[in-house]
Amino acid sequence: MLSRLASSAGLLGRLAAQLSTSGAASASTAASALQHAAAASSGAAAQRWGRAGFATNSHDIFNVHQDSPTNNASLPFDFTPANYKLVEKIISRYPPNYKASAVIPLLDLAQQQNEGWLSLSALNRVAKVLDMPEIRVYEVATFYTMFNRSKIGKYHVMGSQGIEAALVKHLGIHVGETTADGMFTLGEMECMGACVNAPMVAIADYTKGVEGFTYNYYEDLTPADVIKIVDALRKGEKPRVGSQHRSKAEPAGAVAGDKWVPSSGTQTLTGTPRGPYCRDLTDPTPPPPPPPPAGGAPAGAPPPPK
Ligand SMILES: *[C@@H]1O[C@H](CO)[C@@H](O)[C@H](O)[C@H]1NC(C)=O
Ligand SMILES: *[C@@H]1O[C@H](CO)[C@@H](O)[C@H](O)[C@H]1NC(C)=O
Repeated sequence: MLSRLASSAGLLGRLAAQLSTSGAASASTAASALQHAAAASSGAAAQRWGRAGFATNSHDIFNVHQDSPTNNASLPFDFTPANYKLVEKIISRYPPNYKASAVIPLLDLAQQQNEGWLSLSALNRVAKVLDMPEIRVYEVATFYTMFNRSKIGKYHVMGSQGIEAALVKHLGIHVGETTADGMFTLGEMECMGACVNAPMVAIADYTKGVEGFTYNYYEDLTPADVIKIVDALRKGEKPRVGSQHRSKAEPAGAVAGDKWVPSSGTQTLTGTPRGPYCRDLTDPTPPPPPPPPAGGAPAGAPPPPK
């Protein structure tokens, strides 16, 4: 079902791209054709997968843009003069005839400037800057989970299920929702590449524009730790980044349940390893005796043991 929908969306995308590049239809007509066709073919699916009103990425909701007073093509978006300098720098990394290669870094920049999400106008601006058909930019923005296409909170907190429960309770929102004060959006993330310091959250901070943007990991979290972190952020403080209980990933302990449990000593490298081993070192069968030295035992050697 998923792949059938995805492939029909791909077809539609290609069709719309052809229309828009051939000039037979403007790109915004292409976008709205895509929107309507996708909506028509997926009503039930959108309901089943969707958290209504939170279009983020193709993995947790069907991607349908809907015009709204806060997100439609007539709302302005442009890079700031400072960010245009960055745009130039990014584009200069690629050969001039492959400008479109800059699409992902430019979407990232636009998302940072736009407080964490890509509006339709931001997508269209990137298309314009890179001389790309708009549909090509939509294809990229809807495919990658690092791009959000709905307004999110100033802090995007993404974490694993264990501590998610604590955050859900403390912030009073569910995953995919934003607190009423617009400060926090809760997201889920798979494989953050830091199992050794799990549980953890990644927090994207959109409060300070492109220059002040941070994307930090907070690791070795107990539920109490994560609550302290979001409370500190809310007050404008800078909570400690990285592990909350050790300096890197040394075997100093682990989070067990809702507590940090310091290492009892058995996790260090000073004791006998507990296995599993590559082979059974206690195998009672002795190895075959070595062959006698050539020419017999040298004179004066002690008699061989019995
Ligand atoms: C686009 O946004 C403007 C400003 O909020 C609003 O007046 C207009 O109705 C919106 N258009 C659509 C099609 O939603
Ligand atoms: C939204 O943006 C962040 C970066 O701030 C990204 O890590 C995340 O995966 C994006 N999408 C969702 C659905 O959270």
